Amino acid sequence: MTLSAKPLLRTLAGETLTPPPVWLMRQAGRYLPEYRRIRAKVRDFLELCFTPELATEVTLQPIRRYGFDAAILFSDILVIPHALGQAVRFAEGEGPKLEAVRDIRDLKQLSIDHVRSDASPLAAVYEAVTAIRDALPEATALIGFAGAPWTVACYMVEGGTSREFHVVKQWAMGNPGGFAELINLITDATIIHLEKQIAAGAEVIQLFDSHAGVLPDGAYERWVIEPNAKIVSALRAKHPAVPIIGFPRGSGTRYEAFVRATRVTAVSVDSAVPASWAAERLQPHTVVQGNLDPVYLLTGGPAMHEAARSILDQLGRGPMIFNLGHGVIKETPPDHVTDLLACIRGDGA
Ligand code: CP3
Repeated sequence: MTLSAKPLLRTLAGETLTPPPVWLMRQAGRYLPEYRRIRAKVRDFLELCFTPELATEVTLQPIRRYGFDAAILFSDILVIPHALGQAVRFAEGEGPKLEAVRDIRDLKQLSIDHVRSDASPLAAVYEAVTAIRDALPEATALIGFAGAPWTVACYMVEGGTSREFHVVKQWAMGNPGGFAELINLITDATIIHLEKQIAAGAEVIQLFDSHAGVLPDGAYERWVIEPNAKIVSALRAKHPAVPIIGFPRGSGTRYEAFVRATRVTAVSVDSAVPASWAAERLQPHTVVQGNLDPVYLLTGGPAMHEAARSILDQLGRGPMIFNLGHGVIKETPPDHVTDLLACIRGDGA
């Protein structure tokens, strides 16, 4: 099979496939018993990300079980703050904890040299990329990824997960000149990290801007659109053939401006976006990925089938990638994923 025969790559080249290719954000992870077995062997989550054999194994687990059209590298968006020199740990049951960066002085403690260096902890990530690519079935594409700068900055400045993002928004909106230094540092580090993933074998890149939706207009332009656009153009200059999927979650009507200004190959839309609107306003300009609410994978059954079919009806006439509007929830019964795939691919259900 030639490279371009992989369904995900055909769709990203603009073809309309029926059924469309499918993969799920967070398809590897705690809802899978085989993941929990591997996770129990390591002390902390970052050790899993930085051990190539284990990262390779957990990336392949959902491919073996479900036969998705794409594998996504098992890693995390927070490996970048870690590589820049910020203390990052994953507290059991509480999510990530970082030693917060609050001003220019804190920023001066970080260095991009560790991201550039071959001795970086990130070298283990690229080793995993190559091992995964070698092990994948021939029709399965490999997606590399990073967090987009705004979303990574949210964790770096808040020091962890946040409900309202008041601290980081106050810096971004109150002192844009200083905040730009943080965003530029993350942007440069992210470009290096993604170029190295591509060199190691990643065939597609996804940029996760999970907290894009919290910014008001103006700030959205500066901290979501500009950095995503800069990363897309830097990657395109070196690797024009590698498709890039943007995911500015929660962007509402601003998805349109995002697509136009960043020139992403595809846009992943969250579940609040009506599929009919995405078909009309986004799909003429870009491939659309989405957007089943992950809660339908908890309910399963007729409600899930109906919601999935409705998305296929509305987006399936153009180039689409079936996915969720956000990641798989850890309480998801694995059999519901099997059932969803059968529904999309038309074999049973
Ligand atoms: O299967 C995949 O999608 C690939 C692996 C992947 C992980 N994180 C593994 C992970 C990917 C693509 C991510 C991206 C990521 N990480 C995002 C963007 C997507 C999104 O969900 O919005 C964000 C915001 C993070 C930061 C992060 N990592 C948080 C907030 C948490 C804790 C909350 C949670 O969901 O557990 C993590 C930890 C994490 N990343 C886990 C996994 C499998 C759970 C860790 C564990 O097993 O203990």
